[in-house]
Amino acid sequence: MKTRCLRSPRSAAALLQAGGIVAFPTETVYGLGASVFDERAIRAVFRAKGRPSDNPLIAHIASREQVPLLAARVPASAQKLMDKFFPGPLTVVVPRHPAVPDAATAGLDTIGIRMPALPVTREFLAACAVPVVAPSANRSGRPSPTDWRAVREDLDGRIDGILIGIAAEVGLESTVVDCSGRVPLLLRPGAIGLEALRRVLPALRPYVPRAGQVVRSPGLKHRHYAPRARVVLVASVADAEPGPRSAYIGVERASARGFASVLRCRDIATYAQGVFRFFRDCDAAGLVTIHCQRVPETGLGVALMDRLRRAAAR
Ligand code: TXA
Ligand code: MG
Repeated sequence: MKTRCLRSPRSAAALLQAGGIVAFPTETVYGLGASVFDERAIRAVFRAKGRPSDNPLIAHIASREQVPLLAARVPASAQKLMDKFFPGPLTVVVPRHPAVPDAATAGLDTIGIRMPALPVTREFLAACAVPVVAPSANRSGRPSPTDWRAVREDLDGRIDGILIGIAAEVGLESTVVDCSGRVPLLLRPGAIGLEALRRVLPALRPYVPRAGQVVRSPGLKHRHYAPRARVVLVASVADAEPGPRSAYIGVERASARGFASVLRCRDIATYAQGVFRFFRDCDAAGLVTIHCQRVPETGLGVALMDRLRRAAAR
């Protein structure tokens, strides 16, 4: 299959409407989209990524008017979150509309809904005229793509098109909140932090999977965000082991000498924005160890530490 690189949101939308699977930018990470009502295209998305079929997709919308196409009902907690944070880096899980095919939600009776904020994404989604289901546009298990070249690295020849856009501003995937149960649960931390969510929904709790229980978010059980190199978390650069095949990323000012690659980030937001690209570049350079500085777990630091821990888990 030839993968077309497109600059026009309308051309990308036309490709999707013709049954194609098309990657597109968002402010979090790039997604790989198919029409929510096109089961054949949805199956092609799972195949292109090598994604386990038990992992549900997020439906992306251009406007609030599309919510009733996806949701059987909108719980009050979900409505509050949508009013406050749409458009933005937030996914809200609600009971699924019966017209949504099983393939999209991996058979779950709920569906995650997100309205991205990036203008080019909104243009693309509006031109699609249907909700677009999309996982992150990486090969399954690899770091999420934060620029269109990363999508091409992973999926060239496996998808119909890539809508070219800017590098992702956030760099980590959306916050996911499950509003389908009695108590709203934070399934995946992201740029919208627990503190901000709790100002809207004081009852919100972080979801902690218990042994023997069905996992609420199937994506949580799969290995994620990992480069091929071994990821080691360190308190500071002084704890990292320099060497010709070793890398370091962190927010510290202290000098980092003797590493093959170093990324010193201005702040936690810049760290989050750059970490997945750094992982990919370290892999391309054949490095074997990537030392990542731990960050305080408040605000965006919670989401960043979540991704770093998953990348470090073997
Ligand atoms: O920022 C993002 O969310 C990006 C962009 C493209 O929107 N998308 C993304 O999709 O990260 P993906 O498929 O890589 O991660 C979606 C996560 C998975 O962990 C999945 O299990 C969970 O959301 N999820 C999706 N639908 C769900 C549902 N109905 N119930 C529980 N978890 C769900
Ligand atoms: Mg993903």
